[in-house]
Amino acid sequence: MSLWGGRFEKETADEVKQFSSSIAIDCQLAEVDIQASIAHAAMLGRQKIINPLDAEKIISGLREMASELKSGAWTFNPQAEDIHGEIEQRLFEKIGEAAKRVHTARSRNDQIATDTRLYLSQNIHHIAEILKGIQGELLAQAKVHTESLMPGMTHFQHAQPISLAHHLLAYFWMFDRDRSRLEDSHKRILVLPLGSAALAGTGFQIDRNFTAQELGFLKVSENSLDAVSDRDFVIEFLSDAAICMMHLSRFCEELIIWSSPEFDFVELGDEVTTGSSIMPQKKNPDVAELIRGRVGRVYGSLMGALTMMKSLPLSYNRDMQEDKVHLFEGIETLRSCLKLMLLMLTKCSWNKAQMQNALKADFSNATDLADDLVQKGISFREAHEVVGQLVQKCLKLNIGLEELSLAQLKESHSLFDQVSLDKTSHFAVLKARNSEGGTSPEAVLKQILKAEQSLK
Ligand code: ARG
Repeated sequence: MSLWGGRFEKETADEVKQFSSSIAIDCQLAEVDIQASIAHAAMLGRQKIINPLDAEKIISGLREMASELKSGAWTFNPQAEDIHGEIEQRLFEKIGEAAKRVHTARSRNDQIATDTRLYLSQNIHHIAEILKGIQGELLAQAKVHTESLMPGMTHFQHAQPISLAHHLLAYFWMFDRDRSRLEDSHKRILVLPLGSAALAGTGFQIDRNFTAQELGFLKVSENSLDAVSDRDFVIEFLSDAAICMMHLSRFCEELIIWSSPEFDFVELGDEVTTGSSIMPQKKNPDVAELIRGRVGRVYGSLMGALTMMKSLPLSYNRDMQEDKVHLFEGIETLRSCLKLMLLMLTKCSWNKAQMQNALKADFSNATDLADDLVQKGISFREAHEVVGQLVQKCLKLNIGLEELSLAQLKESHSLFDQVSLDKTSHFAVLKARNSEGGTSPEAVLKQILKAEQSLK
């Protein structure tokens, strides 16, 4: 059954049917489409727009279909034009004539916008939960590594020592913002389009607030043209997803580098690595690489959705059917990458000794020697020069600053003393970074408290 055959004398060409059908993709909306139709039918019955007995029939038919959907007893007709037609057809087979009243005061245009919003909202909820899981894992690992030293880098060169906890928590906060962006978007997603009908509203005495409440929407849309024709909420989600994927890719990149033998900071579990068909010794970080690679899919989806919407005149245009390709790809990629990131994290073992070893003679304690002179009254510029020359000297001697004797230190500046020498230990350098948000164990413990609060 087509939803619109009456006006046509000839059959749609098969190629056109195939070309325009969206059932293969929007079948994923079946559950929310049924939910929305149940709420819509309840409203129609309540407002006496249709006979309340018909409304009841429609609702119980739809409820049965919802359980068939869950049990897998219902296979969609691959020839259907879209999920809306498929559901109405199925309802007709179940309850007969009453099914023909469900589409009163509604269009597929407000229906699809409603479905997509509902679907996205539910999925965002799930994604935010996984993000929270990752944050919980990062926090748990940070707690045991507040004193585990590692090189902090800028320009991918050793800069100053930091703790592994501090590094892990940096990602905690990125994922915290990702989660807050997603959660914040709910207030723009949960605005109900239903009741906007095709584009201009309807003459029936509908009660949109009732439908909104039934479906958990926060409010109803203010403008029917806007409601059926914008997909900014899809684009917003894909932007949030793209940002989150970008964060994931940075973390994955680090895990890939850190698990290489040259670094050996971390060992990724056997469960999350793969071997080579030719090189028996290999243990490859494929999961991290795939997550890094799949960023491209999400950026692509974002670009696809933005481009699809560009310059479209108001209101609904069929171009917009393509939004679901991008949206579903974005949701599934982000969700699976987050899940795997969490799994990979739980299977990481950190090589504390190796991370600390990497600090030997790396001069990441140089700033603190300069600061020491500053505290003794020397200008920072002059202190910088003195320590720079000291570094040069050490390089020639092939030793680190921490290996200098007090006498050698004093040779480069008379104000250097035992206190200065003590400051060259990397752990002392770490402890000294005690400003709010800094890497000292004390400051990181405070950060951990904030992180705990944010997860509550
Ligand atoms: N399959 C369509 C979509 O996803 C549903 C709305 C169709 N509306 C229409 N007037 N053809 O956008």
